[in-house]
Amino acid sequence: MKERMLITGGNPLEGEVRVSGGKNTAVAVIPAVLLCDEPCTIENLPDIEDVRALVDILRALGAKVTYIPGEFMTIDPRPVEAFQIGYRDSQRLRASYYLLGALLGRCGHAEVYFPGGCEIGSRPIDQHLKGFNALGVETETHGGRITAMAKELTGSDVFFDVATVGGTINVMLAAAKAKGTTILYNAAKEPHIVDLANFLNSMGAKVKGAGTDVIRIRGTQYLHGATYAVIPDQIETGTLMIAAAATRGDVTIHGCIPQHMEALTAKLLEMGVKVSDSDDAIRVRTLGGHRAVNFKTQVYPGFPTDLQQPMSALLTTARGTSIVQETIFEQRLKHLDEIARMGARVRVAGRMAIIEGVPQLYGAPVTCTDLRAGAALVVAGLMAKGVTEIYEPGYIDRGYEQIEVKLRSLGADIRREVID
Ligand code: EPU
Repeated sequence: MKERMLITGGNPLEGEVRVSGGKNTAVAVIPAVLLCDEPCTIENLPDIEDVRALVDILRALGAKVTYIPGEFMTIDPRPVEAFQIGYRDSQRLRASYYLLGALLGRCGHAEVYFPGGCEIGSRPIDQHLKGFNALGVETETHGGRITAMAKELTGSDVFFDVATVGGTINVMLAAAKAKGTTILYNAAKEPHIVDLANFLNSMGAKVKGAGTDVIRIRGTQYLHGATYAVIPDQIETGTLMIAAAATRGDVTIHGCIPQHMEALTAKLLEMGVKVSDSDDAIRVRTLGGHRAVNFKTQVYPGFPTDLQQPMSALLTTARGTSIVQETIFEQRLKHLDEIARMGARVRVAGRMAIIEGVPQLYGAPVTCTDLRAGAALVVAGLMAKGVTEIYEPGYIDRGYEQIEVKLRSLGADIRREVID
């Protein structure tokens, strides 16, 4: 069923909204339950396509899953005996590669096809495999499939050549059940890595140092059941902050962690947006115009690549010229070609975009090329004059729970319709 999203721009977003649980935490925590020797209950999961895909995959492996969206997911991993994920399931989401680490930890054997997910660059997984190899795992890639096998997982030192979120999480999963201690050097520090470590520790694992670039994991043979609530989604929070600024609105986002938003908050303040926060809420207001700013994506706590796309959409109408450098993924500026159809003045050279602010965007038909590109098109549509038609909105559903419902509650004119 093909759909398109229709946005009539120009309404300032106003009011209060609650952020959902973190996508990139959820997709790590759900596979992590496979390491457990008892059932676990996960709360605050976002009801998004990636989570639904993982439910199907866990069930296909033999796990008993009770999922009540918006409430909880209980997973009993004890019946799981399978260790193979088929091609179509592997392709349903990027994070299917976490099944490698989780199944290795569970039974020392995993077969997963190279994952799908957003086309934002080459996205190698050499660092994941290097980490597994250090733990005594033999890996083979053949016919698009990764086979990983170990007689025994043995703790070891792993030095990542790049700070990789996926690599850090995957090796942490396997190491939680290895014999001895694993030390991850140059580990990624994103909030979802800390959240996964907290979840593992709540099951009795021994993970220390998550959130720094050295993580120590002492392997544990038995992990007990736990009930755990995932952290709020920092990228959804950021997208809502940007949408509020883009529409010259006044929005308070509840249930978020302001500390996770510091890189974005600093840039918005520099643009002239008013941002204030309390314990678990952020208020974003824009009274006048926006100034152009330059920024570069970096690993946490730097400016997140996942917010680069919505942020660069916002900059298309800021006064002056902004320079955006995408250092993490080489093909993450494609959304700007689409926003150029709406009147944005943009030049993309390799991983750099030069954005010359224009006074107004105008609605046009545009197409999502990946999840956050979709979010950027929504931001552009909200600030454009006239109607923006967004094709392939399914990309947005991978990572944003009920985006139209949330934006409509803030006054946006946004809806979806089925086309042919
Ligand atoms: N890299 C390697 N080798 C590896 C792994 C990564 O060279 O083995 C490189 C990548 O090519 C990239 C950099 O290291 O240049 C960072 O990649 P990373 O591994 O950190 O990214 P990822 O695990 O593939 C996760 C999120 C992405 C998010 C990035 C960066 C999940 C499922 N995905 O991807 O989320 O952009 O970290 O924070 O957690 C999204 O939510 O839209 C999204 C794409």
